[in-house]
Amino acid sequence: MGSPFRAQRIADDIYWVGAIDWSVRDFHGYRTGRGTTYNAYLIMGEKITLVDTVKAPFKEELLSRIQDVVDPAKIDIIISNHAEMDHSGCLPDLIELAKPEKVYASPKGVEALRAHFRGELNIVPVKDGDEIRISGEGTATGPLSVRFMQTPFLHWPDSMFSYVPERKALFCQDAFGMHLASAERFAEELPDGLLQEEASRYYANILLPFSGFITKLFAKVEAAGLDIAMALPDHGPIWRSKFGLVLDWYRQWAAQKPSNKAVVLYDSMWDSTDVMARAITEGLIHGGASVKVMPLSGSHRSDLATELLEAGALVVGSPTLNNQMFPTVADALCYLKGLKRKNLVGAAFGSYGWSGESIRQIEEVLASMDVELAGSLKTQYVPGDETLEQCHLLGERIGERISGRVSAGA
Ligand code: FEO
Repeated sequence: MGSPFRAQRIADDIYWVGAIDWSVRDFHGYRTGRGTTYNAYLIMGEKITLVDTVKAPFKEELLSRIQDVVDPAKIDIIISNHAEMDHSGCLPDLIELAKPEKVYASPKGVEALRAHFRGELNIVPVKDGDEIRISGEGTATGPLSVRFMQTPFLHWPDSMFSYVPERKALFCQDAFGMHLASAERFAEELPDGLLQEEASRYYANILLPFSGFITKLFAKVEAAGLDIAMALPDHGPIWRSKFGLVLDWYRQWAAQKPSNKAVVLYDSMWDSTDVMARAITEGLIHGGASVKVMPLSGSHRSDLATELLEAGALVVGSPTLNNQMFPTVADALCYLKGLKRKNLVGAAFGSYGWSGESIRQIEEVLASMDVELAGSLKTQYVPGDETLEQCHLLGERIGERISGRVSAGA
């Protein structure tokens, strides 16, 4: 019986042979409402070269798409740009099947792949600037080479880019990717709004902690003078004419400049913290902020991270439950703390019955995130008019501050 999966020709001798995961909705804690793709690429040079593999359960899809172009056993070279298992999951099986002449990864990639697969994988480490020739003069493709560039922490310490100068093609693994399952393989086939939404969600949930490395990477790519006609990530669409868009977004997100947007996230037991949230929100609006209110009873942590990507303030509310902040608030703060969004002002608020530890606990997490505290408010049981006025004033103070920052061009 034939396979339903086909390769897609991307350019000249480059084919997309990845997998489309239409149904995944949770990617290690990140809600992937539109699924994802695990992209792998075949370069039909004199030496047939596979760039990355796919998540293990999608092995048959990968092999079928390769088979649509060439017998997978004929692959000569495999390049592993990133060891995370959504890209390396089929690597041991591919090595077993194809018995390639060479498998290449960064030095950290070699370590990571051996640690993942616990075998004697024979992988050659490549350094920054190393280059291999995959087609020579006088071949059907003409000369083709692959140059390697180390991109540590974009996304893991092992990550690297592979660049084919003769095709101006940059194989960039997680960078410029997004979790989006689609029939379209190219960014220009998709609306800008959708691209920005999913690229920002990916950046906020995956790459934000590494923004410092990303800023340095831009300088490195500029210094290397790479001419890029095509950026081929391991998730989502391939960038050609719209590559400038995502470059601009990445520069902006990596800078983490504060805006006049405040994110208010909270949960409530008997509506008291909810009422406080509403009063603070009114104050924020009055102070000139744009506000995104996210009740945690219905907001996923990856949506919070996405909203916070271009914010200037984080205001967190929680009642005290059994001497602790509310579990949904703890979940949210644990996630956001790891993502390390910089340059925020913030505050904690909430109601309590008799002990009221949640405010101090929230303040401690915010302080550990380097959030500049603009004040905190707690009230016993149910907030009265005076407390609600204080809530309004706290919101107003934060709103004035972040809207002033923006107008001052900070
Ligand atoms: Fe798509 Fe860091 O793996």
